[in-house]
Amino acid sequence: MKIDSFESDIVSLAQAFGISRSQAISEIKILFAYSNSLDPVELIKDPNVMLDPKKVEKYKKLFKDRLQGKPVAYILGYKEFYGLSFQVNQSVLIPRPDTELLVDLAIQKIKQHDLRTVLELGTGSGAIAVSVATHMPHIKITATDVSSVALEVATKNAKALCPNNLIKFQKSDWFSEVSGVFDLVLSNPPYIAEDDIHLQGEGVRYEPLSALTSGASGLDALSLIIKQSKHYLDKGGWVLVEHGHDQRDSCGKLLRTEGFTSLLAKSDLGGNPRVSGGRMMFEY
Ligand SMILES: C[S@@+](CC[C@H](N)C(=O)[O-])C[C@H]1O[C@@H](n2cnc3c(N)ncnc32)[C@H](O)[C@@H]1O
Repeated sequence: MKIDSFESDIVSLAQAFGISRSQAISEIKILFAYSNSLDPVELIKDPNVMLDPKKVEKYKKLFKDRLQGKPVAYILGYKEFYGLSFQVNQSVLIPRPDTELLVDLAIQKIKQHDLRTVLELGTGSGAIAVSVATHMPHIKITATDVSSVALEVATKNAKALCPNNLIKFQKSDWFSEVSGVFDLVLSNPPYIAEDDIHLQGEGVRYEPLSALTSGASGLDALSLIIKQSKHYLDKGGWVLVEHGHDQRDSCGKLLRTEGFTSLLAKSDLGGNPRVSGGRMMFEY
C-alpha cells in the first residue's frame, strides 16, 4: 500500500484526535476507498491506485471534513452496530458499541421470561429496536422518538435490515403518545449534563444536542422514563435503561423508589456501569 505518500495526513489525523498511527492509517484507507467507490480490498490488490492524482483529489475533500472533526460514520453515511450496517446522518446519534450491552440484556430478558412486547423510547437510527428485532423476529416492537427526521432514518433501517418484523414507529415526546402496556421498556436516552465539557469535544459537536443532553445533571430523561414506565408495563414487565458511568447509583435509587424489584446494574466492556433495570410485579 502506497501509504507513505500520506504521511502528513497520518500525522495530522493522529495528532488532531489523539488516535494511534494505525487507527489513522485505517481511517485514511476507508476514506480513500469510499471517496473513489472502491472496495477497501482493491487498495491491497493494487496499491498504485493510491497514487492516482484524480483519486487523491477526491479523497482530499473527505479528508478535509474528517480533519475538521466530522465523524467517519457521518462522512460514510453508515455505522456498524450489533453486526448490522445502519444508515446514519446528522439528525441521529451515531450508535455506540457500549449500547450493544443494552441489546444483549434485552434479548436475554426476552428469552428468559418469554416477553412478547417491547417499547423502545428515543430510537434515533433504530439501532436498538432493529437489532432486537433481527434476533427476536416474533416479538412486537414499538419504537418512538420526538424527532420526525430520526424516525425517517429508523424506518429506512428497519425496512432494509428486518423487513419481516413490522416495528411500529411513532412520534412521541417520551410516553406522551404511547398507549397500552408492554413486557419490556428499553431506552438509551440523552444523559449528559448540559454543561459537560465533553460536549465541546471533536465528533460530538456534529451530533444532535437533543440526543445527548438532558438537564443540569443529565438525569431528567432517565428519571422521567424510570418514574413513568411502570404505567406502561404489564405485571412482571421489565425496564432497562442505558446511563452514564456515574449515574448507576441515581438510577438504582430511582428504580427502588418506584417499586421495581430484581434490580440489575451491568457494566460495559470497558468496565463502566452502563445499564440498570428492574422488574415491576404490580399493575398500575
Ligand atoms: C442517546 S440517543 C439514542 C439513540 C439510539 N436509541 C441509540 O442508542 O443509538 C437519544 C434519543 O432520544 C431522542 N429524544 C430526545 N428527547 C426525546 C423526547 N422528549 N422524547 C422522545 N425521544 C427523545 C433523541 O432524538 C435521540 O434519538
